[in-house]
Amino acid sequence: MKKVIIDCDPGIDDAMAILLAHRCKDLEILGITTVHGNADIENTTANTLHLRNVFNIDAPVHQGAGLPLNGVELAYPTFVHGDDGMGDTGDVQSDASADSTEAEQFIVDTIRANPHEVTIITLGRLTNLARALTIAPELATLTKEVVIMGGAFGENQFRGNVSPCAEANIYGDPDAADAVCLAGWQKTFVGLDVTMLVVVDPQRQAKFRQSDDTACQFIGRISEFYNNFYTSIGYTEGFPMHDASAVAYVIAPELFRVQTGPVRVATNGIAKGETILNREPAREYVEDHWADIPAANVCIGVEAAGVLDVYEHTILGP
Ligand code: RIB
Ligand code: CA
Repeated sequence: MKKVIIDCDPGIDDAMAILLAHRCKDLEILGITTVHGNADIENTTANTLHLRNVFNIDAPVHQGAGLPLNGVELAYPTFVHGDDGMGDTGDVQSDASADSTEAEQFIVDTIRANPHEVTIITLGRLTNLARALTIAPELATLTKEVVIMGGAFGENQFRGNVSPCAEANIYGDPDAADAVCLAGWQKTFVGLDVTMLVVVDPQRQAKFRQSDDTACQFIGRISEFYNNFYTSIGYTEGFPMHDASAVAYVIAPELFRVQTGPVRVATNGIAKGETILNREPAREYVEDHWADIPAANVCIGVEAAGVLDVYEHTILGP
């Protein structure tokens, strides 16, 4: 069993990812941490507690950061995920409370208690991870791997979804993302380069809605809002499965092709949030902010049908 912590901002596609991780017999969820992003931190935490209930997950939920490292709140993408961050179906309700330990402390404690055994899967902004690093810089060497849904490196022509050069999770806290890049952990970016190719078509969406499993029905219901957003911006074949693709990478990395090299994040200016991979680390540049930066894996190719089959078979059964 691979031990995982899921750091997330539910979020419709976060919900899909959490269900995949929960139903995968090879993964053990040690805890779920929440972060601001698709909605404010109160909503993303309430949504996570609701998901834990609907999906019957036996793992603690820890609330994390409500603001990026620079303290400046950004507008929430209600047009993508709804006012409640979960498709405005009216389903979300939870009397439960998050665990009293804050997300960053939970991450530190769990990694220290399970050295070299835990994979952290991040599905939102990287604020909690950056804050955990400031408490315990040794996390970078004690964590098995960090798998990041985030970034866009220009492969397959995908460069950004909140600006021409930035992806939402990185743009939402570029300082945190760059801090995560600077640390020496094993890390893999599952960015728009691949997630935009993993498209859930109407046939698969109908299977979720028509399933007799309540968790799958819930995914079917909330993803209608998400699908409508993508239809409104010209995607006629369905919606891209961002966050669950990062979980799929942990389950079946052989479905992805990666390139390795140092990654930095532009933290301000017109390219704020751009993830930049130095593809020629041996070359001598006049100005080199990538020198001596630990390498990351960047997903540049994916067997999209394979990822979608993993998703469908894991949540619906073979
Ligand atoms: O860019 C896609 C990412 O932004 C996903 O994690 C989605 O949930 C949103 O937060
Ligand atoms: Ca997310």
